[in-house]
Amino acid sequence: MDREQALAIVHEYVQNLNLRRHMLAVEAVMRNYAQFYKENPDEWGLAGLLHDFDWEVHPSLEQHPQDGAPILRSRGVPEPIIRCILSHADHTGIPRRTLMERALFACDEVTGLITAVALVRPSRSLQDLEVRSVRKKWKNPRFAANVDRDEIVRGAHELGVELWDHIERIIYAMRGVASELGLDGES
Ligand SMILES: [Fe+2]
Ligand SMILES: [Fe+2]
Repeated sequence: MDREQALAIVHEYVQNLNLRRHMLAVEAVMRNYAQFYKENPDEWGLAGLLHDFDWEVHPSLEQHPQDGAPILRSRGVPEPIIRCILSHADHTGIPRRTLMERALFACDEVTGLITAVALVRPSRSLQDLEVRSVRKKWKNPRFAANVDRDEIVRGAHELGVELWDHIERIIYAMRGVASELGLDGES
């Protein structure tokens, strides 16, 4: 399984642009963390890129992500990546054991918060977005109210990183794909 094949799966199952962008964001952050931990960025990237591929066809926790797993298996996605994807959702009961699994959980919800903060800025860009802007919005529970702050805190804790260092790294990693995310101030 290479990135092109994984992207083809995403394009086949996901038509919603924001959902595609969410997975591209998580992919970029996973690649960054893999490099940081001297792990395999291609493998970690695939887990990020595919983790919500079935959300459009399985838009509830009754089905997502567990019913997506057999589809990924039939497409030849390696088992550690499938297990990682299953473990990003607490309700599957699959415990997060590996660093890759902890990283995926830690990167999922927080990319949504950072995207929301970037979108309300006049520049609509990640390039000039700083941690303190995120900090400010973090404290306002009405801002991006659907973003679960507790889950973000738990994710960073499980991964063993300090929350605001984590957020800084995620902003940096997302900047690298800002144009694909529509967050380069041009789109
Ligand atoms: Fe998910
Ligand atoms: Fe997600």
